[in-house]
Amino acid sequence: MSTTAKPTVKTYQNYINGQWVPSSSNETFAVYDPSTEEVIAEVATATARDADQAVKAARAAFDSGPWPETTAQDRGRILFKLAEKVRQNAAALAELEARNCGKPIVEAEFDIADVATCFEYYGGLANKVTGSVNPVPANALSFTMREPMGVAAQIIPWNYPLLMAAWKLAPALAAGCCCVLKPAEQTPLTALEFANCFMEVGLPPGVVNVINGVGEVTGAALVAHPGVDKIAFTGSAAVGKVIVKGAADTLKRVTLELGGKSPNVFFADADWEAAVDGALFGVFINQGEVCSAGSRILVERKIYGKFVEAMTEKAKRIKLGPPLERETKMGPLVSKEQYDRVTSYLELGKKEAKTATGGGRAKAFGKGYYVEPTIFYDVNNSARISREEIFGPVASVIPFENEGEAIHVANDTPYGLAGAVWTRDIYKAFRVVKSMRAGIIWVNHMQPTYVEAPWGGYKQSGFGRELGPWGMEEYLETKQVFVNLDEAPIGWY
Ligand code: NAI
Ligand code: MG
Repeated sequence: MSTTAKPTVKTYQNYINGQWVPSSSNETFAVYDPSTEEVIAEVATATARDADQAVKAARAAFDSGPWPETTAQDRGRILFKLAEKVRQNAAALAELEARNCGKPIVEAEFDIADVATCFEYYGGLANKVTGSVNPVPANALSFTMREPMGVAAQIIPWNYPLLMAAWKLAPALAAGCCCVLKPAEQTPLTALEFANCFMEVGLPPGVVNVINGVGEVTGAALVAHPGVDKIAFTGSAAVGKVIVKGAADTLKRVTLELGGKSPNVFFADADWEAAVDGALFGVFINQGEVCSAGSRILVERKIYGKFVEAMTEKAKRIKLGPPLERETKMGPLVSKEQYDRVTSYLELGKKEAKTATGGGRAKAFGKGYYVEPTIFYDVNNSARISREEIFGPVASVIPFENEGEAIHVANDTPYGLAGAVWTRDIYKAFRVVKSMRAGIIWVNHMQPTYVEAPWGGYKQSGFGRELGPWGMEEYLETKQVFVNLDEAPIGWY
C-alpha cells in the first residue's frame, strides 16, 4: 500500500426540493484540506438560477404544504430524528469536519455532539410555543398567535460549519419555517453529507435546501430574492453591512452575528493558573477562528510582566499538528485566503507592538496553512491589531492601571459580541459585567457556549440572538387576533 495515496475527490451537487441536482451552468468549485492543500471534493456551483429554484421549492413547501400542516409535535419528532442521525454518524462527520476546516479532531467531536444537542433542544421546544390572551378593555377576546416567518435564507461561515448550520436550521424548523442554507464555500462538506438523511427522517421536499457557491453570487442571489422572508447570517461585519443594504429593497427580516474583538480582562487578584490558561484558551481555541475570540487581553499592570511571560511560556508548548491527530491542539487555518489575511496582520503586529512569541508561519510543516500561536504585547488600543478582527491565533496584550481604564479599553471598539473578566472580587466582577457593552460576558472563564443560553452581539457585532428560546423568536411572527363578543352593531353611523 502506498503511503502517498491521494484521497479520493468526492463530488457533490446542490440539494433542492428533496433532490441532488447539478449546477445549471455545470460549474463546480474545489474544496480543500487545509493541512495538505489538496483538493478533497468538487462541489456544484449554484447560480442565481439555481438559487431561484431553491427559494421556489422552499416557498412552495411553505405556502402549499405539507409543512404548514405538519404539527409542532411532528416537527419536533423530525428534529429528534435529525439529532439521532448526527449521533449515529458522529465519528464520520467529525472526521470530515476536521479534515475540511483544519480544526483538531477532538474539537470537531465536541462540535458534532453540540449539533445533535441543538436539534434535540429545538425538537423539544417545537411544541412549547404559545401565545397570550390580552386584557383589552372591550367585550372581546384578544389573543396572539405565533406563526413561522416563512422562507429563511441562512448564510453561514467556515469556522464551525455543521454547528452553524444547526444553530440556524433547528430553530427555523421548530418554528415551522422552510430554509435555504448556503454553507461557506470553503467548508460545505458536512452540511452536504447531513442533507443525505433529510428525506429519511421525513423532511418533505423543499423544506430544507442546501446550495453552494461563493457569497457574491449564490449568497447575494438569496439576499436579493423576493421569495425570501428572512436572512440569518453569520460572518464578517463587512458582508453583514452588504446584506442589510441588499435586504432593504424587500424589507426582509435580518439577523446578523458578525464576530468581534472581544476583551478578556485580568485583574491582579485573579486565580493565577486558571487566568493564564483562560487567556490562552480564549484566543487560541479553534486556531483563533472564533467569533468570540478573546483577542484583546487586558492585564492589570501589577501582574502584567509576569502574566505575559507565563502566557508566552505556555503558548510555545501548544501542540500544532495535523487535524486528525488526537494530541493536536491547533491545526492549520481554513484556507490560503485566511492564511494570507492572518499573516499580513502578523507583519503589521510586528510593527505596531512587541512580539512575545510567534509572528509567522509554523515552520515545522512543509504544507498546510499553519500559523504559530502569536502573542503581541505593549499593544496600544489604537493599534489596528487591537481594533480589527484577525480571526487567527493572534493575541494583543494591553496593560491597564485600574478598573476604570480596563472598562474604557474593553468597550473601546466598534464591536460588542463578548467579553470576560477574571477576579476573585465579586463586587469588581459584577461592576465590570454591568459596564461591558457586549452580548455575552463570562466571569472567570471564556468561551463555554450552550444551546440553552442566548448568543449574539451589541454594537457592530450584529443584531438578533441565536440559541435558546431567543433563537426561535427570530423565526416567528406575532399575529394579534381580536374576536368581538358583543353582537350589537358598532352604532357609529
Ligand atoms: P464572509 O463574511 O465573506 O463569509 C461568510 C459567509 O457569507 C459565507 O457563506 C460567504 O459565502 C457569504 N458571503 C460573502 N459575501 C456575501 C455577499 N455579498 N452576499 C451574501 N453572502 C455573502 O467571511 P470570509 O471572507 O470567509 O472571512 C473574512 C473575515 O470575516 C474573517 O477574517 C473574519 O474576521 C470574519 N468572519 C467572522 C465570522 C464570525 O463567526 N463572525 C465567521 C467567518 C469569518
Ligand atoms: Mg468574504
